[in-house]
Amino acid sequence: MHFHIMTLFPDMVMAGLGTSITGRAIAKGLLSIEAVNIRDYAFNKHNSVDDYPYGGGAGMLMQAEPVYLAYQAIEEQIQKRKEDTEAHEAEGAASAQPKRTRVIYLSPQGQTFSQEMAQELAEEEDLVLLCGHYEGIDERVLEEIVTDYVSIGDYVLTGGELPAMVMVDTISRLVPGVLHNDVSAEFESFQDNLLEYPQYSRPEVWHDKQVPPILLSGHHANIEKWRREQSVIRTARRRPDLLEKAELTADEKKLAAE
Ligand code: ADE
Repeated sequence: MHFHIMTLFPDMVMAGLGTSITGRAIAKGLLSIEAVNIRDYAFNKHNSVDDYPYGGGAGMLMQAEPVYLAYQAIEEQIQKRKEDTEAHEAEGAASAQPKRTRVIYLSPQGQTFSQEMAQELAEEEDLVLLCGHYEGIDERVLEEIVTDYVSIGDYVLTGGELPAMVMVDTISRLVPGVLHNDVSAEFESFQDNLLEYPQYSRPEVWHDKQVPPILLSGHHANIEKWRREQSVIRTARRRPDLLEKAELTADEKKLAAE
């Protein structure tokens, strides 16, 4: 999977994503994360990429042209890579119309990011993430290049970099091989619209608190049953809004209502 992040702050993005699990996945060749500096596509001698909004108002806007040129450079690179791979040759015969690369603009006006959206986007081979700054971006370039508007929540950040990092982190861990154990991406919060059950590690007693004895029993079916119940109880207490979408048995519904 290839992420292309369009930003005025490439160092910020790479400092965050070049380490830990995403950093290791890059080193293993499972992911590539490229931060494209929009300023490299400035078209005036001052290297500026912002200007005053027509009609007046507070702040500056990112201009259309540098954003468009940066996007074109990314798209050319993607098409070239696809042409260079044998897979493309085989696929070329089957589908005459190549699929458009998804270009996501991070904006509080977008659809709220979710685990479900992350799962859908993890199927893409390339994702372009456009980070706005100042008071936003000239609408005309958004109309031309953006396919999806995504928000990470109902609050306003100073730019799209943190949201882009949130998306890349969430999507990356769903790419096969990125987590040590793919099972850990399957049984976790939001799967089946339930929160994850509580977990314990050594020692068996800590601050007078005992690990639930069932987890030491070695009885896998009972452990699974206990975990599922704990997920239901926890979701009912912490995120009752999620339960409406969860598929519960009659017993589980009783448990949730207790
Ligand atoms: N840019 C500024 N605030 C944002 C948010 N909440 N989500 C996505 N992009 C943003």
